[in-house]
Amino acid sequence: MHDTGLSARAAGASSSSSSSPYAGSSPSSAATNPGDDDDESKTRKAHPAFVAAAYARLHSSHRAAVSLLLLIAVAATAFLAGRAHPRADCLPPRIDARFLALQDAAAASDFGSLGVPWCRSKTGKIVEWTSKDLLNGLEEFVPIYETRPIKNNMNGMGFDHSFGLWFMARWLKPDLMIESGAFKGHSTWVLRQAMPNTRIISITPRHPEKYLRKGPAYVDGNCTYLSGREGFIDFGSVDWEKLLRKHGISDPSRVLVFFDDHQSELKRLKQALKAGFRHLIFEDNYDTGTGDHYSLRQICDQSHIRGGGHSCFWDSDEARLRSKRKKFWEKAVEIDELCGKDDAWWGIRGYKRDNFNRSNEAISHKEHFQNSRLLESVLDLYWELPPVAGPSLTHQTRYDPARASDPIIEDGRYGLFQRIGLARLDTSVFNGYTQMVYVQISGTVLS
Ligand SMILES: C[S@@+](CC[C@H](N)C(=O)[O-])C[C@H]1O[C@@H](n2cnc3c(N)ncnc32)[C@H](O)[C@@H]1O
Repeated sequence: MHDTGLSARAAGASSSSSSSPYAGSSPSSAATNPGDDDDESKTRKAHPAFVAAAYARLHSSHRAAVSLLLLIAVAATAFLAGRAHPRADCLPPRIDARFLALQDAAAASDFGSLGVPWCRSKTGKIVEWTSKDLLNGLEEFVPIYETRPIKNNMNGMGFDHSFGLWFMARWLKPDLMIESGAFKGHSTWVLRQAMPNTRIISITPRHPEKYLRKGPAYVDGNCTYLSGREGFIDFGSVDWEKLLRKHGISDPSRVLVFFDDHQSELKRLKQALKAGFRHLIFEDNYDTGTGDHYSLRQICDQSHIRGGGHSCFWDSDEARLRSKRKKFWEKAVEIDELCGKDDAWWGIRGYKRDNFNRSNEAISHKEHFQNSRLLESVLDLYWELPPVAGPSLTHQTRYDPARASDPIIEDGRYGLFQRIGLARLDTSVFNGYTQMVYVQISGTVLS
């Protein structure tokens, strides 16, 4: 495994969130585009036959001559103007109000400064890969993604996270891959595409083969499944030393662990650290006020961290901006949703959620602060996956781009979006973005 540090991101940006009943990022309803049906081809043009008929109705020869010249000029202009328009099928996608709102760069950056935290690592290390590597990876991944066995992975990963997981697994080249939370097996398939010969351990209560009875699912031939009534054991209860030894792995720091199990990320981080794992990916790094488990992004949302901390005043700039953005983005959070009793804004209204929100424990601001200190003390690297493309290209409607890193393909670059093959994909696959995060950790924590 490469010892990574990279990043295509300057300190500051961040993202959004989502909570779905028991999945995390769930591609759902396809984006609709109010302006889609009024294309340029409907521009009216004067027709030559109409010009001739108008001429025949004129009596005075002088008036007729002048009028004829005028009409010919109008008709010619209209005809040429019509030709100058691109053909309707070559038009770039229509941009609706939400995307025009993005042009309000000041609003986006103000919003960012009001609360887009980026976890601080103790080493300041960044990832090795660049935005060019991500772009090249995208080009390679699109045709792979098109061969996925589970076309509709509702309640599982969409395109963005599939790409992120594939890209990172392939870059890191681990000796073993562990996933916690497999559902029908899409993420197992993604890991397999990244590393064709590397062993996978998949921990998930229901074996993916059970889903095969009802439709597409993926069961991997080189995977140890800890699942089913007999086999399932929670990540935190596995005897990792024994299991790794059984798989011929002597160095846990060369293992990649992927969590999509909707458990408190603080809990998972401590368990992973205890087992000696160093490279972790969390699929659903929820933003403050959203999601069904306490996330790293939430933990790092602290007043002392740049972009972190919130104000619960209903007439603050933040409240106004949140209210504005809520009109455009489904998962945006208004100030009254963000804040709970006694103006508790951290986690989810002052609560630390766990296990798909089956557990919901109130925490004090002090405890929330201590959690961030603990996280910082073991964090060597923190990197959030950017959205693959801007929302005017993907037509995603859920996640506020002001809460995410800059997209790999920025709005307006339709030619690139199309050339890479992303325009071929159904827009619904882009609707599941949350800020998937890759972290490197080291050290020890008590408890
Ligand atoms: C969001 S789905 C995973 C989606 C999957 N990674 C994909 O890309 O399609 C969450 C999965 O976590 C499983 N799960 C629930 N509790 C779990 C636990 N304690 N450990 C591991 N998986 C768990 C659920 O049964 C479900 O299959």
